[in-house]
Amino acid sequence: LFDGLTEQPSDTLLGLISAFRSDPRPGKIDLGVGVYRDNEGRTPVLRAVKESERRLVEGQLTKAYLGAEGDVGFVEALMPVIFGLQPYGARLCGLQTPGGTGALRLAAELIARARPGARVWLGTPTWPNHSQIMASAHLAIEEYPHFDVTTQRLRFDRVMAAIEAANAGDVLLLHGCCHNPTGADFDDSQWIAIARAMASRGVLPLIDLAYQGLGRGLEEDVAGVRATLDIVGEGFIAYSCDKNFGLYRERVGALYALSRSTGQAGIVQSNLLALARANWSMPPDHGAAIVRIILEDATLAADWRTELSDMACRMREIRTLLAQAKANLAPIAHQQGMFSTLPLTPMMVARLRDEQRVYLPSSGRINIAGLTRDTVPAFVRALLWLA
Ligand code: LMR
Repeated sequence: LFDGLTEQPSDTLLGLISAFRSDPRPGKIDLGVGVYRDNEGRTPVLRAVKESERRLVEGQLTKAYLGAEGDVGFVEALMPVIFGLQPYGARLCGLQTPGGTGALRLAAELIARARPGARVWLGTPTWPNHSQIMASAHLAIEEYPHFDVTTQRLRFDRVMAAIEAANAGDVLLLHGCCHNPTGADFDDSQWIAIARAMASRGVLPLIDLAYQGLGRGLEEDVAGVRATLDIVGEGFIAYSCDKNFGLYRERVGALYALSRSTGQAGIVQSNLLALARANWSMPPDHGAAIVRIILEDATLAADWRTELSDMACRMREIRTLLAQAKANLAPIAHQQGMFSTLPLTPMMVARLRDEQRVYLPSSGRINIAGLTRDTVPAFVRALLWLA
């Protein structure tokens, strides 16, 4: 059986974790995988998470199965955070998934089931796993440039051209906020123009929302998402709590689908539950229960919001320091969230790693949270050394 297999390259982002760990050189800088770090370089468990976890351990009476939908309280508690005062009623359905990846995978499989010929339009560069997930669900992929790394400019014209070129029933995968890997988000008027074009062409939005609150703010970061759903009236939100609750390894996510009618929503939910059952049967419980306890308790929720806002503030400060330190880093100050992508070749990235102890993926993406006030000058010196 196994003779038919060929060796697969290891995942470049995940490979950086072990490569960095095994480097004995002092003063090394990790700008690789997307994990928040504080100014001391630690990835702490959030205060609200610690307290929620304590309550969970003390209060939990059973580990019996929940069901393919996961923790319904978690799915519902996130709704006002994402959608505001819920304007969609029973047209919106949702379920818990193993991380944002599980949500994307489920959305992809539902699209393939509902419309086998649908193409998924991906603006590049994008999170490398996007194309793998879509391809695994046997969906055809069309790429268009979202961002020009050399000029650091968003290619809004190309997004609009992609929508024009799409067929009715195709899907446009968008980043809700804090674009991974460029930090280049649409402004409010661009979101509205994109949504109107999608509505008129019959293109469905699949919005990957993995960084809510780590950009301009919890509400501001979903303004585009809400406008899109309002205008198009149909679409998916693949949500991740990895970064904004700091729950990475717990794999906490959710998929929401907005349908045109409540009758259709019931059918969509039944298909999502069947697909989840065939994929992972039921999602892991612990992390979602932590989020539910936080969101159901006003004091814990307020503390979470404070800590989240502090994280976003720290990343903005690093962006400002980078922009001030080197003229061609100026655009970084206007980008959002955890990532920016620098115009570096894979060769330059290798030299940064080998000779300057700076780790980043060969795409040139940097994790802003991997820098501290103290390490920004060393990183900028390493970039100047390259030139
Ligand atoms: C990243 O882009 O670094 C994160 O989303 C982690 C991952 O799974 O790739």
